[in-house]
Amino acid sequence: MKILVTGGAGYIGSHTCVELLNSGFEAVVVDNLSNSKTESISRVEKITGKNITFVQGDVRDRECLQTVFKAHDITAVIHFAGLKAVGESCEQPLSYYDNNVYGSIVLAQEMEKANIKKLVFSSSATVYGDPEKLPLTEDMPLSTTNPYGTSKLMVENIYRDLEVADKLKDSNSPWAISLLRYFNPVGAHESGLIGEDPNGIPNNLMPYISQVAVGKLQQLSVFGSDYPTIDGTGVRDYIHVVDLAKGHVKAVQAMLGGLSGVNAINLGTGNGLSVLQLVKAFEEQNEKPVPFKMVARRSGDVAACYADAKKAKALLDWQAELDVNAMVKDSWHWQSKNPNGYE
Ligand code: NAD
Ligand code: UD1
Repeated sequence: MKILVTGGAGYIGSHTCVELLNSGFEAVVVDNLSNSKTESISRVEKITGKNITFVQGDVRDRECLQTVFKAHDITAVIHFAGLKAVGESCEQPLSYYDNNVYGSIVLAQEMEKANIKKLVFSSSATVYGDPEKLPLTEDMPLSTTNPYGTSKLMVENIYRDLEVADKLKDSNSPWAISLLRYFNPVGAHESGLIGEDPNGIPNNLMPYISQVAVGKLQQLSVFGSDYPTIDGTGVRDYIHVVDLAKGHVKAVQAMLGGLSGVNAINLGTGNGLSVLQLVKAFEEQNEKPVPFKMVARRSGDVAACYADAKKAKALLDWQAELDVNAMVKDSWHWQSKNPNGYE
């Protein structure tokens, strides 16, 4: 069974391709390589011993999608392709809406024409905004604070409208759409062959820690030490990217098994960890010092954010299995084996 993976050369996409291939699916990747390299695809093939069909193309390019849908009997689509840097989205909102929203519309239109109606969409916990209470359940109010987050929420709403309209038509092949809301993906495949390869200085905590440990950056700045949390630093629900990837396979399998309609589902561990707890785990597990200094809060950050992960268990029979030690160990393994990423 063939799955189209848009953005499959990227961080989460490449790990998901490994899990798809290991579960007996075939993968067709469409990626415009705006934030990735084909080397990740070669490495997925090395890990799995299986081939991937790679198409360099853009999800906004209808002809490209039509050609792929004609050439391959695609059963379902996992849609990762998009831009993801919060700060950049504030500077270039139009390119975020163009890539993330318009791209998701073109994809759904072409899927509908080809009568492919099983779709997994990469959403984000960012759609919960500044949460009123924790843990976060999928029915909590949604809001956003930046164009990146707004683009994710817009696509969630667009896909909901699509499914409602389709239901009214009483079509005999209804849409099944999983809106997977990721918490904070970290870690890498245990082989150390694939991992996160950020452009320039990382914005996110785990790649920053790894680059300090490998000596590329001098020290970590901890953004805020006066949050109402266990030690004053921000708390997040870090999830191992391999667990996250397996969640996508489970979503595809659940939809093949009859899960229908639109389902928003948190993919998190359900546990919150502070910045300092993550730094300490990294230092202890990898026996590598991570020098840090406390600085002011980063604007737009929330104090704490972690998932209620029960819905994923109930609907997808999925739960995170890898703990923080695996997360920091595998992040370091990837970073130390590939100090300059895929270059
Ligand atoms: P990534 O940048 O590594 O992967 C995205 C891939 O999509 C890249 O390979 C890029 O080249 C490709 N791409 C971008 N625009 C495209 C387009 N128009 N057409 C075709 N390909 C295109 O990012 P990632 O971390 O793997 O994230 C994957 C998805 O998950 C994104 O949609 C992101 O917003 C979402 N997400 C990521 C995180 C995270 O922390 N990494 C958290 C929540 C949600
Ligand atoms: C950020 C984005 C979020 C996006 C997610 C993707 C912002 C405000 N939010 O989430 O929309 O979906 O990335 O992974 O950018 N920290 C430091 N020092 C650093 C970096 C981070 O102390 O150099 C702290 C942060 O203050 C936060 C925690 O580490 O408490 C995690 O930060 P990060 O990895 O950037 O993720 P989020 O902010 O949760």
